[in-house]
Amino acid sequence: MKIISFLNFKGGVGKTTSTHCIGAALSELGKKVLLVDMDPQGTLSFFSTEEIINKSTFDLLLRKAGVTDCIMKLEEFDLIPSTIDLTVAELQLNITYNKEYRLKNSLSEIKENYDYILIDCPPSLSIFTLNSLVASTDLIIPCECELASMDGLNLLLKSLEDAINELNPTLNILGILPTKLDGRKKISGEIYEVLKESHPNIFPAIRINSKLSELGIEKKSIFKSDKNSKGAKDYLDIAKVIANV
Ligand SMILES: Nc1ncnc2c1ncn2[C@@H]1O[C@H](COP(=O)(O)OP(=O)(O)OP(=O)(O)O)[C@@H](O)[C@H]1O
Ligand SMILES: [Mg+2]
Repeated sequence: MKIISFLNFKGGVGKTTSTHCIGAALSELGKKVLLVDMDPQGTLSFFSTEEIINKSTFDLLLRKAGVTDCIMKLEEFDLIPSTIDLTVAELQLNITYNKEYRLKNSLSEIKENYDYILIDCPPSLSIFTLNSLVASTDLIIPCECELASMDGLNLLLKSLEDAINELNPTLNILGILPTKLDGRKKISGEIYEVLKESHPNIFPAIRINSKLSELGIEKKSIFKSDKNSKGAKDYLDIAKVIANV
């Protein structure tokens, strides 16, 4: 089993879209999947369900509920959702012991029930990101095919080094995931080529696709709303690489 965090300190690069779509794609491949929303913005939860959220990562991290009580069983995957309440958990966690280990300890109780646990991180090196890094076996770094993203990527890899060495030295960087490849812009393809040259562990790129920007409207995955879309095809290819099929 793998626990994979989707992380980049830059906002809007496709962390949540990738967590959601790769989770659904792995489910298409017959894998048992749990998604964990570690972002107080709650976008992954918004994409996944319209059910009322009773227990969330807030309750999990502050030990207000057991892990099984926080799991929502959805059609394609299970979800530990988040709500804006999570914002205040940061202050409370700061005065607790083992504050970076709370997610890992909780997931250890249920991880054997899943083939993949995917964690959506917020765009910062917060206590939620540190909990995700500690709990994970692997890391995927979504990176937009844009000029500004390349500098950010090198900075990110450098600033992660210390956190990984201190907190989880066996954490494996599974790969960089180029997102929002725009076939109409020459520069977008050129940046993808540069990324490929400078990073050996790079996934095939996800193309810009309007269907992907509509997640959350129907609360359905891209595979249920339009499995023939470019977005569905691209993310299924990534899931096949991850699952080695
Ligand atoms: N391949 C794509 N094609 C078109 N739109 C996309 C694609 N990937 C992501 N988007 C859109 O880009 C925006 C940002 O995506 P997303 O929320 O997944 O990024 P994020 O990195 O999780 O952002 P944040 O840092 O705020 O958490 C969203 O509006 C999403 O619909
Ligand atoms: Mg997000």
